[in-house]
Amino acid sequence: MTPNNTTQQIISISSGKGGVGKTSFSINLATALATKSYRVLLIDGDLGLANVDVMLGLNVKHTLRETVEEGKDPMGILVEIMPGFFVLPASSGVPEMANLSYEEQALLVDSLERIVHNFDFVLVDTAAGIGESVLWFNNWAKKNITVLSPDPTAMTDAYALIKIMKTRYNKKDFNLLINNVKNKKEAKEVFDNMSTVLEKFLGIKPCFQGAIPQDTAVSQAVRSQKPFFIAKPKARASMAVMEICNKILA
Ligand SMILES: Nc1ncnc2c1ncn2[C@@H]1O[C@H](COP(=O)(O)OP(=O)(O)O)[C@@H](O)[C@H]1O
Ligand SMILES: [Mg+2]
Repeated sequence: MTPNNTTQQIISISSGKGGVGKTSFSINLATALATKSYRVLLIDGDLGLANVDVMLGLNVKHTLRETVEEGKDPMGILVEIMPGFFVLPASSGVPEMANLSYEEQALLVDSLERIVHNFDFVLVDTAAGIGESVLWFNNWAKKNITVLSPDPTAMTDAYALIKIMKTRYNKKDFNLLINNVKNKKEAKEVFDNMSTVLEKFLGIKPCFQGAIPQDTAVSQAVRSQKPFFIAKPKARASMAVMEICNKILA
């Protein structure tokens, strides 16, 4: 297993609010990177309420729970979705996994650190909210993508998450992805509003990571449990993901 890129990236994808499109975006970004021949690992960071496996229609046998509880090597629980795209599944309905102790967290980090060199990109689709695992994954990642929609509560929750990441870990670099927008104008408005608030109250100047339009291809793909990037490559959402993917590679 040799990744073809020496500039490896660990990217967390989070939002504060749930239902804004993190999992859908993570899966399709991973797919886009894999079609460009990169080796991508997508970690389901929603440790207690996994979603990635459901959205991909996987029948998962092993999960990160075994890494935490039994010390199982994460390489042994990977699922290959397509050439180059691997998923590290989490468990669902396991409250203990959503509230790991400090020792368990350390063990998980340690196990993940030992496998990341096998990949060009490691994406973490985090849980909603501002729980410990969300904060920890965001701190572990070298780059943070915060997903938000034009919904005001998505904006306030994204702000809350960014504020905690700054005050607790002194993180200053944040990349905003505006999802579910009517058009580019709306995406720009949301980004500008968020930017103004972040700069005024936290002294943070976020980067614009891109925007994904509201597109029925996204909801259809969720229902058919296939990435829209594959099912509908010409859909507006797929074009947008390709643009974001190229920006990440630039
Ligand atoms: N750009 C979009 N256009 C249309 N529907 C979307 C879009 N992004 C997300 N959705 C819908 O929103 C729902 C929540 O998305 P999901 O990725 O599960 O969010 P999260 O992981 O943030 O909770 C999905 O059912 C999906 O169909
Ligand atoms: Mg999700």
